[in-house]
Amino acid sequence: MKYLLTRSTAHLKLPAVKVERSHFPDGELYIRISSLVRGEKITMITHITSDNLLADLFTIDAAKRAGGKIEKILIPYLGYARQDQLYQKGEALSISVVCKILKNLCIPIVVYDVHNEAIKRDLPFKSESFLPKLLKVVPRDHFVVVSPDRGGVKRAKMIAKLLKAPIISLKKTRTKKKVIIEGRADIQNMNVLIVDDMISTGTTLQKAAKVLKAQGAKDLYVIASHGLFTKGAKGRLKAYKRVFISNSFNIKSSNNIEVIECL
Ligand code: R5P
Repeated sequence: MKYLLTRSTAHLKLPAVKVERSHFPDGELYIRISSLVRGEKITMITHITSDNLLADLFTIDAAKRAGGKIEKILIPYLGYARQDQLYQKGEALSISVVCKILKNLCIPIVVYDVHNEAIKRDLPFKSESFLPKLLKVVPRDHFVVVSPDRGGVKRAKMIAKLLKAPIISLKKTRTKKKVIIEGRADIQNMNVLIVDDMISTGTTLQKAAKVLKAQGAKDLYVIASHGLFTKGAKGRLKAYKRVFISNSFNIKSSNNIEVIECL
């Protein structure tokens, strides 16, 4: 078995098929498989993010033409998955477009901790989760499990069941300009474990911490599958004792953030 890693997953320590990537003077992308793959079974591991979908499609085409058989595509992080609803007239349902392109490849797909399983209407795939692996490194500490929003309750329930812990859900409302998190629960002096699919700006966790601390929560912990950590995110997580994320993104452990090898 050979692994076809893309730019977004090149940090994973796996035997990788060599791929040359460059640009023509006009900016067009050039992709070439430079390993021998004729007759090889290949697993492709790639993130679908804003700028790599076309590169991935070219890479798949190049691997097939070089005689490799891509048996499955593992997608640790499926970007655009948060664009799964129309909030205003005139918007694109971007994840639906992405899913339809991937479906056309006719290659079995596995997605880790997808934002919303409802997108399976456009792309049948197998769901996997990094969260049980992350849970293994969390100290056993009498937690109440918290979902920061209603959409994440199923995920949090799965973890609460494994921990045999109670669960509560906060309510998150997003307007164009701000994120509001509300919720009440009897969590005085309890340790809290927030479960989420991703940390992007860190705003959700920052606001959730405020609400939970105001209600007397003791130590705050997080397990989140994907650490995107856009600018300023780490600084918004200071209220947390420990934040555990998978290595789906190339992030290094630092201070209260611990990257756990899940892939
Ligand atoms: C949202 O519904 C997700 O589950 C995450 O809570 C959210 O995307 C995290 O984003 P941020 O860190 O920017 O608040």
